[in-house]
Amino acid sequence: MLIFLQSENNYKTYNQKKENKMETTNIVNSMPRIGDKAPSFKAVTTQGNINFPEDYKGKWKILFSHPADFTPVCTSEFMTFAKMAPEFEALNTQLVGLSVDGLYSHIAWLRTIKEKIEYKGMKDIEVKFPLIEDITMEVANKYGMIQPGEATTKAVRAVFFIDPQDIIRTIIYYPLSLGRNFDELKRVLIGLQTADNFNVALPADWRPGDEVIVPTAGSCGVAKERMESKDEDVKCYDWFFCTKKLSKEEVESRLGK
Ligand code: BEZ
Repeated sequence: MLIFLQSENNYKTYNQKKENKMETTNIVNSMPRIGDKAPSFKAVTTQGNINFPEDYKGKWKILFSHPADFTPVCTSEFMTFAKMAPEFEALNTQLVGLSVDGLYSHIAWLRTIKEKIEYKGMKDIEVKFPLIEDITMEVANKYGMIQPGEATTKAVRAVFFIDPQDIIRTIIYYPLSLGRNFDELKRVLIGLQTADNFNVALPADWRPGDEVIVPTAGSCGVAKERMESKDEDVKCYDWFFCTKKLSKEEVESRLGK
């Protein structure tokens, strides 16, 4: 009888462990997708407590993670993010960083960056956007920033572009060993805002000033009209692929608003 109970207990324990493991797996694998509402959270940051995304109503948000404070790639990235912060601000965009380090580590690292690090002509760099402490990994897990194949104790370099309606619009991940391309991050933000503002799509490698794609014809009549159009600003490669001019000035005057 005793043996039976023990073995029953073992069995239960095994099942409980399995359940716990499944729960853990579910948490770790919670990956918000493009088009999802940005998961909400409250957090402690280097700029005080925040309630995300509610505190940034009406703004675009770039929520990004980095693997660890006091590491070289992350330092180069933070200096670049901080240098470009006014450009993101001009695009009505709030930067919010995160790593699974604690608040005092964050503060010490940001002080070191400002006081000691000179890199590629950048010096005296002050990081003014909030950096979230996430030692419990609660936020990192919510956003799928912990990718165990890459690292179980650090976040990968994730970037979430979130629109003023708090919808996730683009997600980019980089591994631990590769710093992000900041021209591309800004291009993505400008591209998303341009697509929304002008009801267009953007071709490969698009940059402001390049031609944009008009919505694909939804009827035979529109397809015919497009192909026969004499509008000099519109160019059709075929009925389903038409572009039009959109000047850099027009894009710049509308963005961020
Ligand atoms: C870095 O930022 O340099 C780094 C961080 C974690 C792992 C490897 C590199």
